[in-house]
Amino acid sequence: MKKTFLLLMTMTTLLMGACTQSQETGLVKSGEIWLDTDSNMINAHGGGILYHEGTYYWYGEYKGDSTYWNPKVPHWECYRTEAGGVSCYSSKNLVDWKFEGVVLPAEQNDSASDLHFSNVLERPKVIYNDVTKKFVMWLHVDSHNYAKAASGVAVCDTPTGQFEYLGSMRPNGAMARDMTLFKDDDGKAYHIYSSEENSTLYISLLTDDYLRPSGRFTRNFPGAYREAPAVFKHQGKYYILSSGCTGWDPNQAQYAMADSMLGEWKVMGNPCSGKDADITFYGQSTHVLKVGENSYMAMFDRWNKTDLINSRYIWLPLTFKGDSIDIAWQDAWSVSTLK
Ligand code: DGJ
Repeated sequence: MKKTFLLLMTMTTLLMGACTQSQETGLVKSGEIWLDTDSNMINAHGGGILYHEGTYYWYGEYKGDSTYWNPKVPHWECYRTEAGGVSCYSSKNLVDWKFEGVVLPAEQNDSASDLHFSNVLERPKVIYNDVTKKFVMWLHVDSHNYAKAASGVAVCDTPTGQFEYLGSMRPNGAMARDMTLFKDDDGKAYHIYSSEENSTLYISLLTDDYLRPSGRFTRNFPGAYREAPAVFKHQGKYYILSSGCTGWDPNQAQYAMADSMLGEWKVMGNPCSGKDADITFYGQSTHVLKVGENSYMAMFDRWNKTDLINSRYIWLPLTFKGDSIDIAWQDAWSVSTLK
């Protein structure tokens, strides 16, 4: 009896190890179930990571637990969950993540609020302003049928909330959906967003407090329909990783390079290699994290469109050969290789 119990326990442990991130060894297993330090599935989709004073903070969409199809959006498969707000997890090692709570909660009562659970709250990103000492969050806020196409802004004195919501706008008078933020070495910050019905990617310099567009912006890749932008800088060059525009379904990633954040941007091609590289390993870009002086990690969402809360995360090292980047599929890899 005791033997059978021990055997069962060993098999369960082995199975769990095979199916989840291996926290003992610091291994990242893309596409597998990822549990937080309380053993709950991590719920931080379309997100990004901020490194601040020795801790990583992962912010993402806190998806509701049931997915429905919104028939009022006829031109694409509009699967949705109720918006849960923006979650935050913290970690010292990029593998063990502690749930810090929902730092920008959805509004339960006021249906006129941007943050009402019936609306769309996607792709939150947070950067730190060294002058105002505020953590500044931007996110895509939309109506239930994606017609509002706006960006929301929230601020907080601490990384773990609660963030104060300041409101939304169409930045530079233009539509804004998928988005990211990029803070440059000189402290200037940029808001990068899909605009003009997603056909054109806008890069907009923010005001010094990061709360508004400064009015200086460029229109990039007109007519190319790029979504899911992720921006980073390496040895003085700027890079944008992005996806094509196919709803929740995967497509081929592409990256572009520039000498200045506002452009001109040169399209470089698909950075992915290995198994399923032509469809971004069934994923869609969301963020590229710089780790230490010279290492980068590319983050993707593998959407599960009919059960969105059960979407998975794909995290892979991003390496350079000269100016060219490579993101190679690996079933499992150790974060200790990021130095
Ligand atoms: C693709 C975007 O990248 C996602 O954030 C989400 O808005 C889906 N489209 C909705 O179909």
